[in-house]
Amino acid sequence: MRFTFVTLFSSIVEGYFSDSIMERAKEKGLLGFDYLNPRDFTKDKHRKVDDTMAGGGAGMVMMPQPLSDALAHLKEESPQVHLIFTTPVGKPFTQKDARRLSKKSHVAFVSGRYEGIDERVIEIWADECFSIGDYILTGGELASMVMADAIGRLVPGVLGNVESLETESFESMLLEAPTFTRPKSFHNLSIPSELLKGNHSKINALKKTMALSKTKYFRPERYLKFTQRDSDEKSIY
Ligand code: ADE
Repeated sequence: MRFTFVTLFSSIVEGYFSDSIMERAKEKGLLGFDYLNPRDFTKDKHRKVDDTMAGGGAGMVMMPQPLSDALAHLKEESPQVHLIFTTPVGKPFTQKDARRLSKKSHVAFVSGRYEGIDERVIEIWADECFSIGDYILTGGELASMVMADAIGRLVPGVLGNVESLETESFESMLLEAPTFTRPKSFHNLSIPSELLKGNHSKINALKKTMALSKTKYFRPERYLKFTQRDSDEKSIY
């Protein structure tokens, strides 16, 4: 799967994806990362990419021409590319979106800067617009990285342990049960003893109870939805 980051600040993104799991996935040929800078598509000698806001208001807006030309270039080179715009006014990005998008061959993230992107560029090019949460970032790069990470790790072969994906938080309505490792006792706190006895049906029952309590406490709205679902949909644990 190929990811393209359309950004004025590619160095923010590059570091993250040239490390650890993502780097290994790159070496194995499972994921590819490339960058496209709208500034390379400017037509004036100052390489200007932003302008004042129509109607007045503080801050600058990303001009339509350089970004639109960059996207036209990308679409011509890769007609199947799926174009995602990052914006705090997009729909909330979820694990379901990550799973769906992990089946695409090429996803591009368009990161806004300043006060945003001229709306007409979004109108012309966006396949989808996503927000990663109800807060404002200084630019869309972090949002693009969050989404690419969540999508990339679901591409088959990227993670070693596929089984762990199934019980992960957000793959079902429930949050994942707490996890432990050695030592048995730490700061006078013990690992729940059932986890150490090797009885897998009891371990699964305990994990489900812990997942339910965690969800009820931290995410009551998800707990309520879970309790209202059909029983065969609840069989994740
Ligand atoms: N750009 C700025 N804030 C953002 C957010 N919360 N989600 C996606 N893109 C953004």
